[in-house]
Amino acid sequence: MSHFLPLSRVTKLAEISRHALQEMIRNGKLDTFDGMVELNELLRAFPDAKWDDDAEFRRITEIKEKAFGKRVFERALPDKEVLAARLFELGNEYAATKALLMHYSNVLSWLDEKIDEIEEDKSNETRHALHTLRAFIVRHLAEIPPDAAKVQALIAQERILKIMSAHVTIKPSGHEFIVESNDTLLEAALRAGVSLDYGCSNGNCGECRARLISGEVRKVRAHDYVLSQVEKDAGVVLLCSCAAVNDVVIEANVAGAKDIQEQHLVAKAKSVEVFNPRVAALHLMAPRSQRLRFLAGQSIRLSARGMSGLYPIASCPCEERHIEIQIMRNADDAFSQLLLDGLKVNDSVELEGPYGEFVLEDASTRPIIFVAFGIGFAPIKSLIQHAMSLDLAESIDLHWLADEAGHYQNNLCRAWADALDNFNYVPHAPATDVKATIANIANDYPDLHRFDVYAAGTAAQLQTAKRIFLEHGLPKQHWWTGTVDA
Ligand code: FES
Repeated sequence: MSHFLPLSRVTKLAEISRHALQEMIRNGKLDTFDGMVELNELLRAFPDAKWDDDAEFRRITEIKEKAFGKRVFERALPDKEVLAARLFELGNEYAATKALLMHYSNVLSWLDEKIDEIEEDKSNETRHALHTLRAFIVRHLAEIPPDAAKVQALIAQERILKIMSAHVTIKPSGHEFIVESNDTLLEAALRAGVSLDYGCSNGNCGECRARLISGEVRKVRAHDYVLSQVEKDAGVVLLCSCAAVNDVVIEANVAGAKDIQEQHLVAKAKSVEVFNPRVAALHLMAPRSQRLRFLAGQSIRLSARGMSGLYPIASCPCEERHIEIQIMRNADDAFSQLLLDGLKVNDSVELEGPYGEFVLEDASTRPIIFVAFGIGFAPIKSLIQHAMSLDLAESIDLHWLADEAGHYQNNLCRAWADALDNFNYVPHAPATDVKATIANIANDYPDLHRFDVYAAGTAAQLQTAKRIFLEHGLPKQHWWTGTVDA
């Protein structure tokens, strides 16, 4: 009996990044069938994996939880109806396997009797051959295959994952992600960095409609939007209301920067996080009924008390209603003073946007270099979290060229580097000679043509950096920039 596993689940079981797994497939080190990996192939490709030891996996998870500071501790069991459906399905699978084993056992008994029957009236030679055959069968049935313990441990881990989560494939883009806890399909997609179409995110607008191609979903959030009978018959579901019961394939559109319409909403000020006397972050919360739809790296216009300003968003869309804006203190800028010092908790701030196309080329698996000049770290932070969610880049290097505000989130960058094997953080002290610093960075990459470079800073800094990176062999089409005001 073959047992196939989807790639996203393989990454979890083998504790390997999605990029590394795809490299193995490309290099012929791991065979797949229809995007799935057969269990014995998995054991062959990872001979040294300790399938029954998840201590290291737990340790890495703990480090990541601390590093990312997300509300991972809130994650709980799946919705109880989804859990019941998954257990029911597992029970059915167990019953079918048991019935099959009973059938095999009956066939063996029947074979045994048949051998007895044939033996009675055959020559010595035939009897000897049948005796040998029976001994062969008995011996092999009694023998425990050398990989039995590994297979058992691997299946047990995979079963637990299947109860706790479901695997989703999006067609035609081919994106894959896992739905955990009591997340809806939309929440899980956004958390995984997959920007599916949606509007209100709470069952009113119908913009998250998508077609279920295979698998089973269950409604876990109420919705007011009414699907027509034709839509229901065609398998249309609302992604913001449904969770996956088992592994599903869904037809849905993955949006690019140009697909996301400008939105207007009113958020509430929640807190100001002071990094140092020069820079702080304003944390906003979008309303439950209208979360802001944007891509990592984009900007937004903030307005309050008759003033406004355009800022890059420092948080990632995976953080749901939370929006972080990083702001330099500037005595000449009345609006920045209002945002950091003049707002009280729950004061309203109008949001308009998103704007800009400084977003990740999310189909690329090339290694990424992020270059942040000063507070250009804000959009880069959002992009890094998005790249981490996608887990597709071969490696991620962050070069942060500080200005007088310093590396104000140094600990966060170091925590990322501690948590992820493929993340490198290089802080650069404020330099008088920016050109020389950039040239030194570019010199460190003799194979720059293989990389994507995302840089955020002032127009002048970006112009200088672009010239130097291109001179060092970076293809023009691998260069992306986001301009920020110093
Ligand atoms: S996003 Fe509006 S109904 Fe789902």
